[in-house]
Formats: sequence, C-alpha cells, structure tokens
Amino acid sequence: PRVAVVFGGRSSEHAISVVTAGAVLRAIDRAKYDVLPIGITADGRWALTADDPERMAITGRTLPNVEQLAESDTGSVLLPAEPANREVVYTEPGAVPKVLGEVDVVFPMLHGPYGEDGTLQGLLELAGVPYVGSGVLASAVGMDKEYMKRIFASFGLPVGPYTVVRPREWKRDETAARKKIVDFAGEHGWPVFVKPARAGSSFGITKVDDLAALDEAIAEARRHDPKIIVESLLRGREIECGVLEFEDGPRASFPAEIPPAGAHDFYDFEAKYIDSAEGIVPAPLTEEQTGRVQELAVRAFEAASCEGLVRADFFLLDNGEFVINEINTMPGFTPISMYPRMWEASGVSYPELVDRLIGAALD
Ligand code: DAL
Ligand code: MG
Repeated sequence: PRVAVVFGGRSSEHAISVVTAGAVLRAIDRAKYDVLPIGITADGRWALTADDPERMAITGRTLPNVEQLAESDTGSVLLPAEPANREVVYTEPGAVPKVLGEVDVVFPMLHGPYGEDGTLQGLLELAGVPYVGSGVLASAVGMDKEYMKRIFASFGLPVGPYTVVRPREWKRDETAARKKIVDFAGEHGWPVFVKPARAGSSFGITKVDDLAALDEAIAEARRHDPKIIVESLLRGREIECGVLEFEDGPRASFPAEIPPAGAHDFYDFEAKYIDSAEGIVPAPLTEEQTGRVQELAVRAFEAASCEGLVRADFFLLDNGEFVINEINTMPGFTPISMYPRMWEASGVSYPELVDRLIGAALD
C-alpha cells in the first residue's frame, strides 16, 4: 500500500511535527509500504517529492531529530518556504496536491489547527481517502479545550474549574471580558493558567500569579487564538496515559508521570522539548491508581469518539482523585515522546506502533 505521511503544517506546532515525521519516516516498514512524505510549509504550501528512504528528502535535507530541535532556536525547525532541491515541487499556498487523493492511506502527522483539528480530516473524508487516527468530530473536540471539557463532563469524567472568553465577548466589551477572568480568579484563587483554547505544545500559555500579569497573558493567548480558556492551578501530580485501538477495542498503556516543573513555571514548551523533561514510565502509582487512570483514559477516548490513538493527560490531586486535563488526538510521536514511550513500556515497540496505526486505518 501507498502511505502519504503529511507533516509540518500551518500551526505553531510545525517544528514538532517535522521532527515527529522524521522519526516516523525512519520507522515505517519500507518492505511493506510505499511511502510518500508530504510537507506543508508554515504558509500552507504543500511540498512533494518522490519517496527516498535514504534521505527522506523533502527539501534536499534529512528531516531533523529531537536533538536538532533542541539545538535550534526554540523549535524553529521549519520546512523551507521555497524548494531547496529541484526534485521538490511546491504548490501555491492552500492548493492541495492531487496525489493526496490517490494514495491508499494518509498518516496526518500534524499537530494543532489545520491538521489535528478535523480540517484535514474533513478534506480526506471528502476525497474518500482513509487516514490514521480520529475523524472530524473527535479531532475538533480534541483541539478545543472548552468543548473537550464539556464533553468529558457530560460523560461523567472529572474536569477542573475553568472559564472561557470567546472572540465575540472581546469585541462586545473588553472590560467585561477581562472582569470575567478576574472574577474567576477571585472565586478559585490565583494562580490561573491563561491558554489559547485551540493550540498545543503549551504555545501561548501563561501561568498568571496575580492581576498585574494578567493583561500580558491575555494578549499572548490571543495571539494564538481569539478564544481563550482560563483554568485554575490543580495541585497534584501530572499523569499521562496512552490509548491505542486494537481489533477488540481501545486499550490503555501503562501511565507515565511528568515530574514537577523544576526550573520551569510549568510543563511548558522548553520543558517538553528543549530540556526534554524526563517522564517516568511507568508512573509510580498504586495498582488501583493505575487501573483508575487507565479506565478514565479509555472513557475519554470513547467520550470524544476517538479512533486509533489518543494521549490523555490527567492530574492526580492531593486528595487522591484524578481530574482529566485534556486529550491529544495526534500526540507528540518522536521515539522519546511520552505516547510511544508508554506503549514501549506496555509491550508495543515504536515500529510496531506505527505499523498498527497504519494497518488499522487501512482495514
Ligand atoms: N501537542 C503535542 C504535540 C502533544 O500533545 O504531544
Ligand atoms: Mg494538547
């Protein structure tokens, strides 16, 4: 079968996707699949090249790995906006290459809006091409931190306190919109996290300790998304759990624990990728806690109608209760990323994971 691995993209998580794609392209079984790497530049051009297993050449260069991401200036690993190689063909911004509709399956290795949020999934549905991972609805739900929480809550999953300010509220009355956040902090206490509602990899997120720092945090979040969500700080441990769909249904991996942020304010972009904060796999939890978080992760997968894979992120509060923070329908996928590491610890190797996901999409 012919597999198109689509990576890069227009979101702020472009660099992570490029690195992830490098790892996935190295791991795909070339004896089994014809691989077509397709890049999307930050301005929405699609970059096409013939498959080249030696170089994984999309730009005339080999795709970077995590170490190179760390060495680059905070994740500025970009697919060049212009071809560096005559064999590479770039489309006009927004023009979708015809070949996307001609492959047997697409692996959308994209994070963030225009890739992980249901938009690409909708395009592929229209074209009738099977793809790895969640469909339109689950992808959209997984990208929007508000609707994610609403869905979880309606399925009886425990979520933390939050408030949302929509684009129209800013337009109507900036002062009232800001007051909504101040009132939320007054009720639930500082610090609060101010986040773009639809972004990833901690882009645009600020931990706000007091009123003085609020306006800058709002401006930063709104640079990524006109809709923002404000959450209270949940005191406890950060626990993640992978879900993978098998023939008989979704199963949860061993969970992992993200150690306290240390020098970082929270588990931010630099902690995630540059300092490669070491997650502990499996998380040192009791058997009962492990079972509980695994059950919640599978329920979150079902609640959002996910397909293929999801990473569910939780807090284990000091009172012993788990609260779900979010899901990621296309989680970070380099070999040192938490999702593959949790499956490795659970008996599914990285190449096996890639193979299983593509195989499931083809079925
Ligand atoms: N959004 C990043 C890639 C993650 O969830 O791992
Ligand atoms: Mg996320």
